[in-house]
Amino acid sequence: MHQAQIINLPKILDERGNLSFFQNEHHLPFTIQRVYWIYDVPGGEVRGGHAYREMQEFIIALSGSFDVILFDGKEEKKFTLNRSYYGLYVPKMLWRSMENFSTNALAFVASDSFYDEQDYIRDKDIFINEIHGAK
Ligand code: TYD
Repeated sequence: MHQAQIINLPKILDERGNLSFFQNEHHLPFTIQRVYWIYDVPGGEVRGGHAYREMQEFIIALSGSFDVILFDGKEEKKFTLNRSYYGLYVPKMLWRSMENFSTNALAFVASDSFYDEQDYIRDKDIFINEIHGAK
């Protein structure tokens, strides 16, 4: 799972309020095609139980906090996102879940692709088969 990583973003400190940003190629290992966000998550809910065959993402907790659990077919790793000045780069072919959302958590996601349901693997057994090369 060497590729999944926290990416620190610029933080412009200012007495009037802080500012962070990211832009294509400078901070992410891909070009952004789409952004979406997840909000109003009821306590205890889990989002995103799936993998992408090709799509890559960058996930930020713009407000509040939540955990992103990544599984590469062998080991599972938990990343807690709770600041708006860093995010998690998620390469393709990792099973990912998002859980433990705080009240008012806002998950902001930048993707390298347009939405494509065909790229999703929504069955964990199929994911495990594909990752081990047994198609
Ligand atoms: P999904 O990716 O399954 O959500 P999560 O991974 O957070 O559980 O998407 C939920 C629904 O929203 C699904 O019906 C597809 C739709 N959707 C879009 O139409 N466009 C998008 O960019 C995304 C991310 C989802």
